[in-house]
Amino acid sequence: MPELQLLRADHAGPLLAFETDNRAFFARTVEDRGDDYFTTFPDHHQGVLDDQEKGVLRFHVLVADDGEILGRFNLYDLDGGTAEVGFRLAEKMTGRGVATQAVRDLCDLAKGYGLNSLRAGADVGNRGSRGVLRRAGFVQTGETSFWRDLHDEFLIGGELRVRRLGFGAMHLSPGDGEVARRAVDLGVTLIDTAYLYGWGANEELLARTLWPYRREVLVTTKVGVARPGRLDGRPEVLRAQVDAALERLRMDRLDLLQLHRVDPEVPLADQVGALRDLRDQGKIGHIGLSEVTVDQLAEARGIVEVASVQNRYNLLDREHEPVLEACEAAGIAFLPWRPVLPGVADPAVAEIAAETGATPAQTSLAWLLARSPVILPIPGTSTIAHLEENVAAGAVRLARSQRDRLG
Ligand SMILES: NC(=O)c1ccc[n+]([C@@H]2O[C@H](COP(=O)([O-])OP(=O)(O)OC[C@H]3O[C@@H](n4cnc5c(N)ncnc54)[C@H](OP(=O)(O)O)[C@@H]3O)[C@@H](O)[C@H]2O)c1
Repeated sequence: MPELQLLRADHAGPLLAFETDNRAFFARTVEDRGDDYFTTFPDHHQGVLDDQEKGVLRFHVLVADDGEILGRFNLYDLDGGTAEVGFRLAEKMTGRGVATQAVRDLCDLAKGYGLNSLRAGADVGNRGSRGVLRRAGFVQTGETSFWRDLHDEFLIGGELRVRRLGFGAMHLSPGDGEVARRAVDLGVTLIDTAYLYGWGANEELLARTLWPYRREVLVTTKVGVARPGRLDGRPEVLRAQVDAALERLRMDRLDLLQLHRVDPEVPLADQVGALRDLRDQGKIGHIGLSEVTVDQLAEARGIVEVASVQNRYNLLDREHEPVLEACEAAGIAFLPWRPVLPGVADPAVAEIAAETGATPAQTSLAWLLARSPVILPIPGTSTIAHLEENVAAGAVRLARSQRDRLG
């Protein structure tokens, strides 16, 4: 795992610094090199500068449709395996989404070089660069420092890009809107709710608090449980619940809709078929299942593409290991519910937590994230303190020996 180091923050926008085992990368601005230092490629944002400067690896230039340079970054070797990232954005990029895309591109580039994570610094007074880093998936770890795991994203259904560490909204009461807002501000992009949670009140709270939703935020809900608390997977009920959820969440489409439980009284094919029809009508983007067996998952996949599975799973409860393995094999997102609570008071988890300087909750989440790249934990909390603690778990690294001991 690369050692990371933040070298400095600067006034010129986000700066990035990172190290691998055998290479050190650091950031600096490119101002001192003069404006004509970079060659632009108006129809492309990427080029290679291998003969203008010894050891340059790659550079990117961001160009607007009218040919104007919006910013640039480069990643180049200096000497003896040390490389440098320079990043500079024009002021006018703010608010256009280009800067965020540039930082995302840089993350992909760094990933291509075999890096696992990035740290970035932002100018204290520069809200713009902080926003850019957050939108590009960085978590704030200090007053001016940000951090991002380059493998922390997952494309649900191959197209819904989310951070793997999500948030379960189930514990929020109607007055807890600020917790949901803080989750989004911290960079959480996957938020899980359900009709069951307050019979729509939880969905309403999210809409009241987060609408209009940020483009990168995916709020996913569940249907299939009817008042006063019994499973009901009849197609007409699922259709009505989807329509009601759309209204409460103020959405035209539920990008990811999950079947809360398979109703044993209704053929699975009818339940999943109803969701497939809703997808074909455009009311649903992708379909997820919850609390399913390997056989039910296989049967459902024979009818429609399944993008996610949400089963109970944590360090101390691996009953659904075979389902996780089936998801892994098929590239299906696995959203373990109850990911945190069992580990909070467990002595073995506490021991490893003490070794890493993390909390037991963070250790539980770090274990899940390391367990499989398809795992997207959705820890739930009603407090901002626990939310911040849980989100920061993304930065916790467990040694292989610690993972083995926990496993
Ligand atoms: N598909 C399903 O059938 C199903 C079932 C249950 C839940 N879910 C979803 O999964 C999400 C997570 O499941 P869950 O809420 O049951 O389990 P969880 O996230 O493991 O645990 C939540 C509980 O742990 C506490 N907690 C959270 N962070 C903590 C921390 N850092 N330190 C100490 N305590 C902490 C919370 O209390 P505080 O409020 O005091 O922080 C809350 O009581 C839910 O929010 C919901 O979206 C789905």
